Amino acid sequence: MSFALKSIVPWGRSFQEYRDMFNLGEEDLGCRILGCGDGPAGFNAAMNARGFRVVSCDPLYAHSREEIAERIRSARVEVMVQVRANQSNFVWDSIRDPDELEQVRLKAMHEFLLDYDQGKKEGRYISCCLPDLPFDAGSFDLALCSHLLFLYPRLGPDFHLDSLREMLRVSREVRVYPLVDLDCTVPPLVGDILGQLRRSGYTCSLERVRSHFLRNGDRMLRIVPGTSPHSSRETVGNCPQDPGDPSKREGASFSPSACTLSWRKMLYMRQYERIRLQGVDPTRIRREST
Ligand SMILES: C[S@@+](CC[C@H](N)C(=O)[O-])C[C@H]1O[C@@H](n2cnc3c(N)ncnc32)[C@H](O)[C@@H]1O
Repeated sequence: MSFALKSIVPWGRSFQEYRDMFNLGEEDLGCRILGCGDGPAGFNAAMNARGFRVVSCDPLYAHSREEIAERIRSARVEVMVQVRANQSNFVWDSIRDPDELEQVRLKAMHEFLLDYDQGKKEGRYISCCLPDLPFDAGSFDLALCSHLLFLYPRLGPDFHLDSLREMLRVSREVRVYPLVDLDCTVPPLVGDILGQLRRSGYTCSLERVRSHFLRNGDRMLRIVPGTSPHSSRETVGNCPQDPGDPSKREGASFSPSACTLSWRKMLYMRQYERIRLQGVDPTRIRREST
């Protein structure tokens, strides 16, 4: 049976899951983070509780807390039916079974709901829709997108490319997870989009992540401006046009490219700058400045 959802449902992951899906290190947490399609994930709330700031954007935030809670209740039924019918899509070790999964997700979404009204007042939950983001160029250091792009290939190549270009306009680095669709297969779209981004002068690296709950979901895509001598050799597992994944060869590593490393160093320095300027929110939101 294939994993089928009628639409893109609001369903949220936890802070720890975000850290594992995106290989977020301590140095990443302090930078200016944008979460695209964050929905009811607990990441923003948990980051805020730890003294870090994330701006999340999602069309869901056009709704009230009560309306979102109601949509979560309906999504819960639909998603859990699909999870139970497709248990082989997941690796049940850190989470033992569908019941535990349901509790982990509900806890994360409860955290989100508790934070939502306050976060909205503080401009941390913004209602908007990819591929258009209401932020100035360069407003963020890191833009994340979890369980939206590539998970629903039916959104089409134009939507994917436009969304990634828009994320790269507002942020200096973009990370996307997962790179598989609802059936845990890498869609051919991934190879096409990577090819187009590389031809436009971006370095796209496929990096192994700590998260391995989703079958075949052991990679995230990292995109930064500039070309790397390694980027053209990095390919995705089972894309039809993929001649073979060098990362699967013995001894191959997933170290970030030299370009990415120097960028990470800059992020680290920015983190210190931000801590030094405590209380100053460097996130410039176009809406607020006009
Ligand atoms: C499956 S949920 C993932 C939520 C969260 N990122 C996570 O991983 O826990 C997908 C989210 O994408 C949002 N979404 C759908 N279309 C979108 C768009 N065009 N731009 C931004 N978000 C969108 C949905 O509202 C939903 O909240």
